[in-house]
Amino acid sequence: MVISSPESVLEGKYPAKAHARRVVDHIRGKLPDATGVLYVEGRMTKLLEDNDEPEHFRQRRFFYYLTGCELADCYFLYDIASDKSTLFIPHQPGQRHLERPPVSPAEALAKYDVDDVKFTTDVSDHITFLGFDNKNFGALKEAVEVCRVVKDDYELALMQKANNISAVGHKLVLERVRAAKNEQELQAAFLAASVSQGAKNQSYSSIVASGRAAATLHYVRNDLPLEGKLNLLLDAGAEWSCYASDITRTFPISGKFSKESREIYDIVLRMQEECIAMLKDGVLWDDVHYRAHEVAVEGLLALGILKGDKKAILDARTSVAFFPHGLGHYLGMDTHDTGGNPNYEDKDTMFRYLRVRGRLPAGSVITVEPGIYFCNFIIEPYLKDSVHSQYIDAAVLERYWDVGGVRIEDNLIITSSGAENMTTAIKDADELKRSSARNKRAPVSSIDSPETLWIPEVIKRNTARGLQVLRPQE
Ligand code: GLY
Ligand code: MN
Ligand code: MN
Repeated sequence: MVISSPESVLEGKYPAKAHARRVVDHIRGKLPDATGVLYVEGRMTKLLEDNDEPEHFRQRRFFYYLTGCELADCYFLYDIASDKSTLFIPHQPGQRHLERPPVSPAEALAKYDVDDVKFTTDVSDHITFLGFDNKNFGALKEAVEVCRVVKDDYELALMQKANNISAVGHKLVLERVRAAKNEQELQAAFLAASVSQGAKNQSYSSIVASGRAAATLHYVRNDLPLEGKLNLLLDAGAEWSCYASDITRTFPISGKFSKESREIYDIVLRMQEECIAMLKDGVLWDDVHYRAHEVAVEGLLALGILKGDKKAILDARTSVAFFPHGLGHYLGMDTHDTGGNPNYEDKDTMFRYLRVRGRLPAGSVITVEPGIYFCNFIIEPYLKDSVHSQYIDAAVLERYWDVGGVRIEDNLIITSSGAENMTTAIKDADELKRSSARNKRAPVSSIDSPETLWIPEVIKRNTARGLQVLRPQE
């Protein structure tokens, strides 16, 4: 069920009350006699260290799940016996309200799916449950983590909205890649597309990696020149009302794939397609991840980068040298969402970094993000280890370092009979080529880059547009 019009679903309230009931059901499944209250604190306003400016505010996800409230300095209480929820919002008489006007209880009650709203001053300043005999701090956290795995329609609509916004950003970057000079111009284009559509926050820091930099999985520099590089890997996702999207595309910077990068692209796309085809309610994610490795090995054997017996290579885990991360993770309010039960201590290197272990339920959202990378820090030890080096043809591998890394990442809703893809950003190799090639002369932005601002014809053009041009000091 792809949500074709998320906006219409989002006209209602965030279903906080239903979430509270689900959480209690889960707790009661484990502790049948559980009674009393659920109590959660939201994120408090925090100042920067040694400064009076507030830190960037990010609502606590456990709190948002039970309230749908993005305000700072709030508390939430849910009385299990009476099924009554109360939101406590800050009362700040005499404050200057520099960031936003005060929210009244009546306004909050109209906006959020709770039964009552009071001021936080209606409870003691320093609430503590430590003195209570009958308390359980672990049960609520565990229950919310598990409940968050299966999304309701409202949550799916939020995620679809985030995905739609990100698709526009990915398209913009694709259209500008040929005219851009460096990675940061493209990051700026993605952020501009997000913010201008109302998405102020990103789900995570964008990865904008050109050429060999794409082999660094969590690349953060985003500031290298594009000239002379083969591909751009863009892993970027906007957030919408605390819900994430997480999308990766890899495409040729020149508009034309090299032979080697097209070969790797085709393998990764096949890894993704075959894995998506396996998805449905109850599928074992470990099996899907394994299938991605099988397709990778088949592809790398066909290219001659790997040599030998497919099963022996898989058993030796040699493909982990090229695909060193998990196939994907749950997605929701957090980019790496809760409930995946990873085992980072697993002795099996193929599964150690898999963020979800076990079966996927219908209604969960998972990323499918296979990749093949040519990262010398990761591959070198394999080349030096005789268990693995017998399966790697170093001479053939030599031709592929410039491919850097290819990853393709979509966001999938698991259904009873299959999966629905929320991600619409282009990934067909020929279409990618056409879209980037078409825009050879597209300006990077309506304002020219700083290095070119002072060139006479740029000055003339910008003056005609009414833009003020500042000349560098002579
Ligand atoms: N963008 C982070 C991830 O793909 O896991
Ligand atoms: Mn991801
Ligand atoms: Mn990602």
